[in-house]
Amino acid sequence: MAKPRVVHACTECGAQSPRWLGRCPECGAWGTMVEETPATNTADALPVTAADAPLPLAEVDPDGAPVRPTGVGEFDRVLGGGMVAGSVTLLGGEPGVGKSTLLLQALARLADDGARCLLVSAEESREQVRRRSSRLGVLPPRLLITAETSLPRVLAHIEDVEPDVVAVDSIQTIHATDAPGVPGSVSQVRHCAQTLVRVAKERAISTVLVGHVTKEGTLAGPRVLEHLVDTVLSFEGDPQHALRMLRALKHRFGPTHELGVFEMGDDGLVDVPDASALFLADRCPGAPGSVVVPLLEGARPLLVEVQALVARSGPQLPMPRRVAQGLDAGRLTMLLAVLAERAQLSVDRADVFASVAGGVRAADPGVDLGLVLAVASAQERIPVPADTVAVGEVGLGGEVRQAARVGRRLAEAARLGFRCALAPPSTKSVSGLEVVHVANVAEAIDVATLLREARPRVA
Ligand code: TYD
Ligand code: MG
Repeated sequence: MAKPRVVHACTECGAQSPRWLGRCPECGAWGTMVEETPATNTADALPVTAADAPLPLAEVDPDGAPVRPTGVGEFDRVLGGGMVAGSVTLLGGEPGVGKSTLLLQALARLADDGARCLLVSAEESREQVRRRSSRLGVLPPRLLITAETSLPRVLAHIEDVEPDVVAVDSIQTIHATDAPGVPGSVSQVRHCAQTLVRVAKERAISTVLVGHVTKEGTLAGPRVLEHLVDTVLSFEGDPQHALRMLRALKHRFGPTHELGVFEMGDDGLVDVPDASALFLADRCPGAPGSVVVPLLEGARPLLVEVQALVARSGPQLPMPRRVAQGLDAGRLTMLLAVLAERAQLSVDRADVFASVAGGVRAADPGVDLGLVLAVASAQERIPVPADTVAVGEVGLGGEVRQAARVGRRLAEAARLGFRCALAPPSTKSVSGLEVVHVANVAEAIDVATLLREARPRVA
């Protein structure tokens, strides 16, 4: 018999190499390559059933796969309505972000609605989950729990219980004896997930697999899983803030880039359908250095407050600091250079701090104009009117450019009572909002100042 071929796989990203290497050639992590015997692909050997016999495309029922709402509003928003029967969802996030809490709340609602739910709690004991469910005030009789870590036993429970929904928390702690590697290793995680995906498809079970991610934001080990599952959700949040965001990174059954917003409270996660109102709640209107920007988070417009502080340092400080929180530091440096060159507004001698309030990360280039105005407003100590928003990307020439889906963003601003928007020249008007076109940063700064003089009562 041929000797099984040995490969080395990275526990971080799943990259394989025939030789052992100190550093993974794919993701660059050190000391993560471990020896593994590749498993044979059992999926290839499956018998063909009548259900998957080829069909004319026109005869396929587009609504054939029923959607089951989880009852957690923001979760359903991200899923595009709910869980599709037979679909597999990977719920990734850093430890402690609230994955188990979200799952328990969703399962409880699903069970309340009549679905048979099986929670495979491979990390926490049944008693721990019971205590959490008391804290969350949910105890539906149709929610079954097992604290099982062995894959064959999980499969046996699925056979027994015949659930509609299965949640495995987490996939990294499940192990199979017929696959090589220790629990959590790439080959184990891949094998367990492959088996669960197959069972989900065969039995039309909506399945959720929880996966922990590393600090770099990649799924530890199960990054390889992203290809196996139908939907990849990422649950994010700064532990210092109550805010949690759920994003769909991949979704075979609906829109990607949807965003769900939650607040983690004492009784679990609470939906935040009106996120803009939450972000603007603690704003200090009329303060210099503060500008409201309608951001686009995926497909969802969100109003956030961008703040800047320009602290004049003495001539003895040769290297003024640029600190960006929730914003890209490189982008801040570039915009300060544009301000200096194109609007003759230099902050050379000053430390500049810029942040997005509320723990939001603004990767959207539409934030540029707001950030430039916040810095100019802080530097000149002139507030931007409190009823004004700013949106647009700023180019190296100082020109203000169009941002994606500006109509949606401005409609959200109008909904929240804003009355004026500074936006690039091609922006169409929006009902309830005065759109002021600004072609470049110098003009935007002038206009923002003039607006204040024209309407001093709002400043
Ligand atoms: P958890 O769901 O266990 O996170 P994960 O499964 O992603 O590791 O949530 C852990 C954190 O959430 C923990 O720090 C406690 C906090 N928490 C609350 O603040 N309120 C609650 O009602 C619950 C259940 C948890
Ligand atoms: Mg957990």
